[in-house]
Amino acid sequence: MTPVSRAAAVSSGRPEPTTPWWRDAVFYQVYPRSFADSDGDGIGDLAGVRSRLGYLELLGVDAIWLNPVMRSPMADHGYDVSDPRDIDPMFGDISDLDDLVADAHARGLRVVMDLVPNHVSTEHAWFREALRSGPGSRARRRFHFRDGRGPDGSEPPNNWPSLFGGPAWTRITEPDGTPGQWYLHVFAPQQADLNWDDAEVVTDLEKTLRFWLDKGVDGFRIDVAHGMAKPSDLPDHDGWEANELLGHSPDDPRFNNPEVHDIHRRIRQVLDDYPEAVAIGEIWVDDHERFAEYLRPDELHLAFDFHLTLAGWDADAVRLSVEKGLAAVAAVQASPTWTLSNHDVDREVTRYGGGAVGSARARAMILVALALPGAVFVYNGAELGLPNVDLPDEVLQDPVWERSGRTERGRDGCRVPLPWEGGEPPFGFTSAPSAWLPQPPEWRALTVEKQLEDTGSTLSLYRRAIELRHERAEFAGDEIGWYGSPPGCLAFRRPGGLTCVLNAGKVPVELPDGAVLLASASLTGRTLPPDAAAWLV
Ligand code: GLC
Repeated sequence: MTPVSRAAAVSSGRPEPTTPWWRDAVFYQVYPRSFADSDGDGIGDLAGVRSRLGYLELLGVDAIWLNPVMRSPMADHGYDVSDPRDIDPMFGDISDLDDLVADAHARGLRVVMDLVPNHVSTEHAWFREALRSGPGSRARRRFHFRDGRGPDGSEPPNNWPSLFGGPAWTRITEPDGTPGQWYLHVFAPQQADLNWDDAEVVTDLEKTLRFWLDKGVDGFRIDVAHGMAKPSDLPDHDGWEANELLGHSPDDPRFNNPEVHDIHRRIRQVLDDYPEAVAIGEIWVDDHERFAEYLRPDELHLAFDFHLTLAGWDADAVRLSVEKGLAAVAAVQASPTWTLSNHDVDREVTRYGGGAVGSARARAMILVALALPGAVFVYNGAELGLPNVDLPDEVLQDPVWERSGRTERGRDGCRVPLPWEGGEPPFGFTSAPSAWLPQPPEWRALTVEKQLEDTGSTLSLYRRAIELRHERAEFAGDEIGWYGSPPGCLAFRRPGGLTCVLNAGKVPVELPDGAVLLASASLTGRTLPPDAAAWLV
């Protein structure tokens, strides 16, 4: 589709198309702190995003997902929301959001916001009220407050750890000044878990959904969407070897409790009043069948399949994650969602080995992802081939760093602000002397400005790949067929006629029949070098 026709489709309010817009959409994840700064404080903001919409149009994406921009003390960079129906002054105000949505729609871009239903900031009015009110009060029932264990209640109510290190419980001081109850926080102590058995928690989320949808927002990415429901007895658990969001055990009591599906049905009922809105879940559930339960017709529209993200540079692992992912969503008549990175994981260039090899592999893998049926999410900076940055201790901000006793560096390395133009930091990201996290001087070779001029750049590869995916009929069809391929390689074909070949092996391989539409590396004749992928028709 051309940008013009996409714009018309967004704004005309015409009847729902048979294929929902999000099904095969390319989403661009904007980490607002790190995308573009308009007011010179060194931190990105909504007006900055708005000022760069032309770039996203040029890139050719269909939609943007904005990480949280709601009011927040920023203990976890916005995932600690103190008012879910307001914009944090760091990012602007409500009118900046309105302007961004209006401008994005005028350019044919949809806007999806981040919703954080599992927890709220301890600065949220509800939590402050809970601190003022005594044990057993109505205000405390919105959270998980419990008496401590041990004779004086000085031990946490159960043995759950926080994902950010330390116990998942913090003890409060009661209004009379005595040591008091404990509250549950699966993440940082500033992120108090909500009690989803409380009716008001549910109705308040519905209010939040409608608040943003009535503003014209096109949907939500739902944070920790497998986490809201907790077993009411909050039982101890044996075995905390795996205590990561990216990899927790299937019986981890903090996640994937069956009651969570009722919450998704309530969310879906609201979204069904806005027929074009989409709900995309962050679902870290390893088992494919249980993952797919979230995509039943009355629950989420889309859910991130992180198996591909975690597959590594291994053709068999990539193939398995794709095969299993497609089968899982097909079983519930849903469509898949692929992503290679986001603000929580190391950037793909780094994961695939770093340097020139890591860049070549990341270029190859985006061709794999964009060749698949379903939605694809691109994390800002991936299109520039940015690697993770080794940051010095003193600039680290992720709560993981302090909570782990400075043993885990956390996620700041993948959140360094984008280089736009010029020869030295802050590369046009901000008019301040430096960005909130320092950009390496080597990024002078990776700026948007540089890469737009270079037809061989990673940015040019992304632009061309996204354009072809939108335009070419060969991308049709929901299934894929696998070809036999040499060791270390994979090859699949869409029913429309597109073939994608990946060489993750060590030696060059012959390409199958067909004209080369696009390749991630220079080809010599019909030979695909290692660390490369090609599309054929
Ligand atoms: C999600 C977010 C992550 C955040 C966590 C707690 O996993 O992606 O950035 O820290 O939830 O809200």
